[in-house]
Amino acid sequence: MEVETILSKYPRRKDYLLEILHDIQNQNPNTYIPHEAIQKVADHLNIKKAQVYGVIGYYSMFSDTPRGKYVIQVCASPVCNMMGSSNLLDFLKQKLNVEIGETTPDGLFTLETAECLGNCAVAPAMMVNQDMYGNLTPGIIENILEQYTTRGKLKQ
Ligand code: FES
Repeated sequence: MEVETILSKYPRRKDYLLEILHDIQNQNPNTYIPHEAIQKVADHLNIKKAQVYGVIGYYSMFSDTPRGKYVIQVCASPVCNMMGSSNLLDFLKQKLNVEIGETTPDGLFTLETAECLGNCAVAPAMMVNQDMYGNLTPGIIENILEQYTTRGKLKQ
């Protein structure tokens, strides 16, 4: 969907900024907010481009550089860490053959870490795009990766 079409759904009010950014990022095949879109968002809301960049930089879920179709964010905050998230991160690095911040060569997965995802009760937790997963083990992660791999290939 074109950025203009997305913007036309939203009133020209600053409090829609997060929703707009989510919408643009989710519609982008590389799960990011392109620089051209940032200018259009700033114009639509009548704010400075720097403010939009500031919000994108503040929230780890947003990116202004291209990423994989599915962005995996493993929680690296204390509760998840105590419950073994760093081992899961190592498992994911090995499984996907990428380091943190990298994307798999097929463009399907980008691996990232995040601060508390607000799901400590089911630590260790991670998100894949908008979907939250908790009580993770390597076996559960393997199943999740398989599901996204199948889904990603069907949509290509
Ligand atoms: S510490 Fe991981 S979700 Fe809160």
